[in-house]
Amino acid sequence: MERIIEKKQNNRSEILDKIVSLAKRRGFVFQSSEIYGGLNGCWDYGPLGVELLRNINEEWWKTMTYRDDVEGLDASILMHPKVWEASGHVENFTDPMVDCKQCKARFRVDLLSEMINEKKKAKALEDLRNEIINDSKLVDKYSNAFQTEDPFSAVLEDQDLSTKLLQQINCPQCGNKNTFTSARQFNLMFKTFIGPVEDSGAVVYLRPETAQGIFVNFLNVQSSSRQKLPFGIAQVGKAFRNEINTKNFLFRTREFEQMEMQFFVKPADDKKWYDYWKAERLQWFKDLGMTENKLRYHDHPKEKLAHYAKEATDIEYEFPFGWGEVEGIHNRTNFDLSRHEEYSGKSLKYFDEESKEKFIPYIIETSAGASRSFMAFLVDAYYEEEVKGEMRTVLKFHSRLAPIKAAILPLVNKDGMPEISQRIEKDLRKDFKVFYDDKGAVGRRYRRQDEVGTPFCITVDTQTLDDQTVTVRERDSMEQVRIRIDNVSSYLNDKLKF
Ligand code: GAP
Repeated sequence: MERIIEKKQNNRSEILDKIVSLAKRRGFVFQSSEIYGGLNGCWDYGPLGVELLRNINEEWWKTMTYRDDVEGLDASILMHPKVWEASGHVENFTDPMVDCKQCKARFRVDLLSEMINEKKKAKALEDLRNEIINDSKLVDKYSNAFQTEDPFSAVLEDQDLSTKLLQQINCPQCGNKNTFTSARQFNLMFKTFIGPVEDSGAVVYLRPETAQGIFVNFLNVQSSSRQKLPFGIAQVGKAFRNEINTKNFLFRTREFEQMEMQFFVKPADDKKWYDYWKAERLQWFKDLGMTENKLRYHDHPKEKLAHYAKEATDIEYEFPFGWGEVEGIHNRTNFDLSRHEEYSGKSLKYFDEESKEKFIPYIIETSAGASRSFMAFLVDAYYEEEVKGEMRTVLKFHSRLAPIKAAILPLVNKDGMPEISQRIEKDLRKDFKVFYDDKGAVGRRYRRQDEVGTPFCITVDTQTLDDQTVTVRERDSMEQVRIRIDNVSSYLNDKLKF
């Protein structure tokens, strides 16, 4: 067996650059509208990317809906504008934002902390303290901020202190001081118009989350599927947010895909189901091969909970740039259904036949980003290894996620090997996404498949001509076994556990 030495982790941003470059070179992800200079925060999934994304969606769909207590839904992206008033998005789905008057760059106030180095932050806080020293109310607030883990962010979160701190900060882009406008709220929903007249009565929004399509259909799904509590509704679909700062490849984009499930429960059972889904969802990432110690929960402290939530946690993954949320699990109480009942004037109460009671159920939400999970799976699969003195790049995807399941390689392009290979390819193509490659030395062909995460390479060689066997090389161990051509399909079926 070949020797594998895992290379020490490179510099963190270097790793991300390499992954972005591989993603483009091998057809996973392209920048949107690249020939026109690109569109910020939007990405296109290429031939291999679309397979990976579909596999992630498919795994999620199977896990979440191939059970008797969850139904599927595909609601439209455009919804009645009142939905977003009821949900609170028109009023609250905002980020505080400042502009630099000098260079015109725009920043999310809560992200400034990440853009300024610790020394400069300490200096700005010191200058702020000197300025407010005679104002006891501000001094109290300032001291409170220093009780928190991140005083700089805590000061920015306070409206009075934030205005003054912004005067002490240099713009991260042009370096000038005291050039920020005061913070103002910026709504993240994209607006458009329905019908031919572009007036305020025709405004509709591109949905910023898929969840609302589920809430407004709660009774439609419940009565048509004759479900009883507890039960859930699951949906995969696009969501749009006009993010002020997009960053880190697919991590924060303006158009992305969500995989959301809302589980409707009796209010008294909320804790039980919250704990259940919290455990299930973390397990899903682990079952698909994600490195266990790169996954963790981040429970939201009570004072930081969203206005609708009773309890919330994020499942976080350790990306090359640090820990980031891939999925949120929330106990949303009866907030959403109550608000839609109030704004629509239609009852959204559930009638419990056992107790003969009518009530609004509580909702436990599991909300994963498909695009962000895509990035996490891609990053997690990326390895550089030294094999016989040469480096190989390999994507160690779980076989269920791998875009291509097997490659078929004739050793040489003669002696009937292409014909046999093509017969194997034709046979496998009925069940699997496979790839035929006859270009270049076989070692190079193996490397090309490693780089896109293909779990198996099937090689037709001289011995095949004598005994109708082929070699099957496994991606991670690089071990090869010989099996009969007739058995290749069942061998793959077994290994890929379909
Ligand atoms: N319905 C609840 C909800 O939408 P969220 O925390 O705003 O909650 C859920 O979003 C998930 O959607 C996040 O965990 C993340 O994976 C994904 N997501 C949110 N904003 C995103 C963005 N701008 N780009 C990519 N993924 C995003």
